[in-house]
Amino acid sequence: MVDPKMTRAVVLTSFPDGPVCETDFSLVCQPAADCPKGYFRTKNRFFSLDAGFRQWMSAGAGDNYLQGMQIGDPVQSIVLGEVIESNHQSYPVGTLVSARTAWEEYSILDGNDLCSALTVSKRIPLHQYMSILGPTGMTAWIGLYKVGQPRSGETVVVSAAGGAVGSVVGQLAKIHGCHVIGLTSTRAKADWLESDVGYDQVIDRETNPDLPIALGELAPQGVNVFFDNVGGYVLDAIMGQLSERARLVICGAISQYEGPIEPLRNTWELVTKRARMEGFMFSDYVETFPEIAADLESKLARGEIRSFDELYYGIEQTPKAFCDMMHGKSRGKCIVQLD
Ligand SMILES: NC(=O)c1ccc[n+]([C@@H]2O[C@H](COP(=O)([O-])OP(=O)(O)OC[C@H]3O[C@@H](n4cnc5c(N)ncnc54)[C@H](OP(=O)(O)O)[C@@H]3O)[C@@H](O)[C@H]2O)c1
Repeated sequence: MVDPKMTRAVVLTSFPDGPVCETDFSLVCQPAADCPKGYFRTKNRFFSLDAGFRQWMSAGAGDNYLQGMQIGDPVQSIVLGEVIESNHQSYPVGTLVSARTAWEEYSILDGNDLCSALTVSKRIPLHQYMSILGPTGMTAWIGLYKVGQPRSGETVVVSAAGGAVGSVVGQLAKIHGCHVIGLTSTRAKADWLESDVGYDQVIDRETNPDLPIALGELAPQGVNVFFDNVGGYVLDAIMGQLSERARLVICGAISQYEGPIEPLRNTWELVTKRARMEGFMFSDYVETFPEIAADLESKLARGEIRSFDELYYGIEQTPKAFCDMMHGKSRGKCIVQLD
């Protein structure tokens, strides 16, 4: 039986105030916890870096969904780990699991908190179970198909199009027969989204700072589905250019995780356009994950979609990877590989 005496973890050392930076975290080495009856120990292999967790890093954070993080605690994260010691009959040694735990080399888990045993295929790189076949892919699929309900021929706009969720949404909308427009930061990222990811057109803030004008040119008939990861000004601008019966999928609001909350001025448009705006949490659909994963896996196998991933290596790279992801320096899904 493996018995790690010590485990390294990345802990929160200060509540980020504005843009998160690497000095808000530090790497510590601490004694490993016991593994009592009903629990199992994982050796963690990959950390999924998710923008949403930034919401629970600020001072006083915490809501109906998750408690705020505390100074000195390992930073919350979705993790892929392998069971190396078990006192839980459903998770024998050798099981691969995905769970919400923390940026730590070893975790003690009880099978709760988004924990599930993974059935993996040898054909698929393991890290993809933290990206397109993990919570990221689930979020994109659920938000687009269940909430957005696009029809072939419709115009779908995706904000933070080059990020983890956005890069999957764009591909799914495209193979669904939609006209897909992405929004991103730089022209270089926009070019990559058009040439590699498959977006029809991409508006970047760098060369096209006036979003309403740029969008009016690309979508003169209006937007049918808006998949929003950004909120604030971007959401407001799209609200001003909806077609009738539009659907606004509220997946996230990254523009306000590190800055002031911007007012929405175009809400009246929801009335006249008979539009539907709906937020969702991917975790509400946990019972449908196997069928969604099967669908994504077959689309991958047929070459209809790809997993765009950016890997960082070693636990010490985690703060940098997280900051890079938050501030648009990474493309696709940002993952830390531990071994
Ligand atoms: N509802 C759910 O269940 C659920 C689940 C997972 C994620 N989410 C949400 O989905 C969104 C994307 O998450 P992710 O983990 O996939 O992250 P991500 O898209 O891989 O990374 C975040 C991206 O957001 C963009 N961004 C950052 N600050 C911005 C700003 N002020 N204005 C516009 N764009 C900005 C950056 O790309 P650019 O270079 O394009 O600026 C950055 O790369 C987040 O809002 C997250 O909270 C929701």
